[in-house]
Amino acid sequence: MALLDINNLSVTFDTDDGPVHAVSGLSLSVKRGETLGIVGESGSGKSQTAFAILGLLARNGRTSGSVTFDGQEILGAPTDALNRLRAEKIAMIFQDPMTSLNPYMRISDQMAEVLTLHKGLSKREAVAESVRMLDAVRIPSAKERVRLYPHEFSGGMRQRVMIAMSLLCQPDLLIADEPTTALDVTVQAQIMDLLRDLQQEFGMATILITHDLGVVAGFCERVLVMYGGQVMEEGPTVPLFAEPAHPYTRGLLAAVPRLDEEEVTMKAIPGAPPNMANPPKGCPFRPRCAYASEACATMPPLEPFAPGRARACHVEPGRVAA
Ligand SMILES: Nc1ncnc2c1ncn2[C@@H]1O[C@H](COP(=O)(O)OP(=O)(O)O)[C@@H](O)[C@H]1O
Ligand SMILES: [Mg+2]
Repeated sequence: MALLDINNLSVTFDTDDGPVHAVSGLSLSVKRGETLGIVGESGSGKSQTAFAILGLLARNGRTSGSVTFDGQEILGAPTDALNRLRAEKIAMIFQDPMTSLNPYMRISDQMAEVLTLHKGLSKREAVAESVRMLDAVRIPSAKERVRLYPHEFSGGMRQRVMIAMSLLCQPDLLIADEPTTALDVTVQAQIMDLLRDLQQEFGMATILITHDLGVVAGFCERVLVMYGGQVMEEGPTVPLFAEPAHPYTRGLLAAVPRLDEEEVTMKAIPGAPPNMANPPKGCPFRPRCAYASEACATMPPLEPFAPGRARACHVEPGRVAA
């Protein structure tokens, strides 16, 4: 049984301009210990998918479909059940650590609070455990620095603190939403290395959300490519990178800077993502797609075409990869 099973999830926001279909009919599943990357440009519906899972959507958001965690339906579950789930089983880290850290509390107090509240540890035990976790995320002199306030850490160190905090209760699932986007390239690489090590050490299933295909390459076993709130392509990382089967995946890959080449080459996909208040008919990528034809006025279903791989496109897979 999958740890997380999402079936036909839709997220709609009610706005003055009418409904915004942020996510439409999305299905995915994550097994225990598995690493899944969700990739797509800004506005693809990646974050709202994560927020829907955890009941964190803005108030004008509605959902339909099903999300089960460990066999239990959690979509639209009562707030206290979701709060408990977020504290004990599913952890989430964000681009901006300050969305999770309280600026007015010492790190020791906010970390310890999680453990006294949810694991029944004494304050002393909880602080000791917090220090151990800060060590695990390689914060130097953790024993002293646990007494500091969030603003006394650099951006990269603050992200480490947030990662430490998210792992305190040893979650079964970690959702990391653009965890390194705000950091400079060197620190970005360090944080991704750290996350990879921790994932291997703790073995939690991880969903890594990013607009950057380069980031998932070294981290995820499987990748799901999203555009316009829908899945364009899904499959194991290696074949998906080697032979992308959807024009959008191909476009994203071409936009990854190739550091191994003499000159850094990078080609952004022309055009911009659709306005989801008024999306194009049929395939949302159609207006930007070099392969588009009349057929694309109807959205193709997501269909398997090779072991573990699926895609939603009318063009022959071989033509796209070529
Ligand atoms: N509260 C809201 N009201 C209306 N539209 C929203 C709201 N929150 C997000 N959206 C829209 O939902 C779509 C998907 O957003 P999101 O999931 O955040 O994208 P990303 O893939 O960059 O994480 C975007 O078009 C965004 O403008
Ligand atoms: Mg986002």
